[in-house]
Amino acid sequence: TVRSVIKGVGAYLPARVITNEDIAKIVDTSDDWIAARTGIRERHIVADGELTSTMGTHAAKAALADAGLEADDIDLIVLATSTPDQTFPATAVTIQAELGINHGAAFDVQAVCSGFIFALATADNYLKGGQFKRALVIGSEAFSRILDWEDRSTCVLFGDGAAAVVVEAQKLNGAMSDRGILATCLRSDGRYRDKLYVDGGPSSTGTVGYVRMDGPEVFRHAVTKISEVIGDTLDIAGYQVSDIDWFVPHQANKRILDGAARKLGLDPSRVVITVDKHANTSAASIPLALNTACVDGRIKEGDLVLLEAMGGGFTWGALLIRW
Ligand code: ACO
Repeated sequence: TVRSVIKGVGAYLPARVITNEDIAKIVDTSDDWIAARTGIRERHIVADGELTSTMGTHAAKAALADAGLEADDIDLIVLATSTPDQTFPATAVTIQAELGINHGAAFDVQAVCSGFIFALATADNYLKGGQFKRALVIGSEAFSRILDWEDRSTCVLFGDGAAAVVVEAQKLNGAMSDRGILATCLRSDGRYRDKLYVDGGPSSTGTVGYVRMDGPEVFRHAVTKISEVIGDTLDIAGYQVSDIDWFVPHQANKRILDGAARKLGLDPSRVVITVDKHANTSAASIPLALNTACVDGRIKEGDLVLLEAMGGGFTWGALLIRW
């Protein structure tokens, strides 16, 4: 069996940190409101001239160093982002050029907050299909650029950052084949596309636009949809919730994470949480959380790790990995 095995993880966060108190100076809100409703305390925000490609390149280099590989070893780059540098070309090709890679392929995947799951599932299928050997899968977002800083219901929720994994196709036999990406499940339902969207774009307004969200509606759907897709993913791989060593969810809101953990019967100490420090970094949040839990020694080789996300579209999905 050919499996996609994670070889390295890396992350990059902009130097500038904005606390809830800082935001309370811009809009009518408070640390208490934001922390109680979301679990968020602070977020990183890009500096002028710091782009999605800049952050993505830093994260990619860190992941390559962690994997002990050179840029030249990579033949596929899949970047998950909703905040590309430009409408086109894909920001992945800018990162490809920054890394000095000029073979293989690079492209962007757009599934908003579920982007990293969609990108990693895409890379997994190319690697298993034998078309590419080693992939960089990156989530990089500069959401601060598309926030309406006069709308307190959205601007308090998001942050910027990037993180990446290196994934390698490996032929594994027998008991060894229980390694790498074991199952993926992707879902979308466009009937909900007006619950979370950006009010601009090339073919509609010709502008970039700002994030608009019906928060309570998103919240209402999140826990059920997340729980269903996790159940389906575990079924495909023949595992149960009690087998999971680490649950690494998209970091949108601590109440959604707690709700999902409770519904699934997951031990809260197995849930990796970074939303307090990073806020919601959309497609970057899962690899940022993965990097945090790898660097601090929680995730170790052999651990069963479940990733999960839901975002605009709606899109949602889960992915099970034997680390
Ligand atoms: N500070 C103070 N008050 C606020 C703020 C703020 N930043 N934002 C909204 N309010 C007010 C509202 O105006 C409203 O006041 P009113 O009752 O006088 O009209 C009141 O707070 C309650 O507003 P709700 O939107 O009903 O608040 P709710 O308890 O639902 O919390 C929140 C809002 C945090 C957005 C919640 O709905 C949520 O977390 N939803 C999930 C959305 C999410 O996480 N999206 C991320 C992207 S999707 C994803 O990644 C899953």
